[in-house]
Amino acid sequence: MRLSFNTAAGLITMASLGSVGFASFLMGQSSSGDSDSAITFYAPKGSDVWYSSMDGQPMTHQSFVTEAANSETGMSAAAGLWSGLPVIATYVPHQENSSKPLVENEPRFQFQDGYTSSGAYVGSGYEINEKEEYAPLSVHDNMIIIFSRCPHLCCIPGWQLVNNDFTTDNWYPGGTDSGGNKLFCICHSSRYDPTVIEKNRNRNRSSGAEFDYIGIKRTGGPAPVGMPLIPFVVNGDLIEALPDFKDWYTFCA
Ligand code: FES
Repeated sequence: MRLSFNTAAGLITMASLGSVGFASFLMGQSSSGDSDSAITFYAPKGSDVWYSSMDGQPMTHQSFVTEAANSETGMSAAAGLWSGLPVIATYVPHQENSSKPLVENEPRFQFQDGYTSSGAYVGSGYEINEKEEYAPLSVHDNMIIIFSRCPHLCCIPGWQLVNNDFTTDNWYPGGTDSGGNKLFCICHSSRYDPTVIEKNRNRNRSSGAEFDYIGIKRTGGPAPVGMPLIPFVVNGDLIEALPDFKDWYTFCA
């Protein structure tokens, strides 16, 4: 497997994370020697991001809270690696804003219905709270962890790594393509709203097998659907992922 990371400077193809990382993940082994559950910061080469000085270090919840205080929206996000897989951890001031009027720049997690690219209804993001099977994904600690491979052609979207209207530090409610703080895939400009949680359907590119998943919403571009969530815990202050839904992360394998 080859991974293409988006950066402000362009694409970096990462063969080094290839089959070793992914196979190790599926086998429940670590490719790095760290705990299987640890998520580490990954600062894309050539980028100048708030977590550059923490590249390779375990992600802490407090680091996201601290960075969010520098934001107009109170949001923060960072790219990371979990057992060789690309992820984006996103902090949203959900608890603070969820009882306020739903207005611009007061972000919170929203739950919406998901539809396939052909318009078929799949299910509701509210199933995260209603169905026992999705209980590990219940929103907590004002954060979500996203498996960051683009359902279009498998590049790796980033957060605020390029400068355009989709990546500016502002937020509009409703899960539309308007407003900033989208995850943006530089390959062909797909956009995803990391504050909208939906249920959707994807297919394994090799086998054609379909699977339903809980993930974030695609708001624009050629990607057919959004990207899946990864359950996690905050252990002390460390952010650790859980392998409950590993089938969801194979669509590019
Ligand atoms: S691979 Fe992401 S938009 Fe094409």
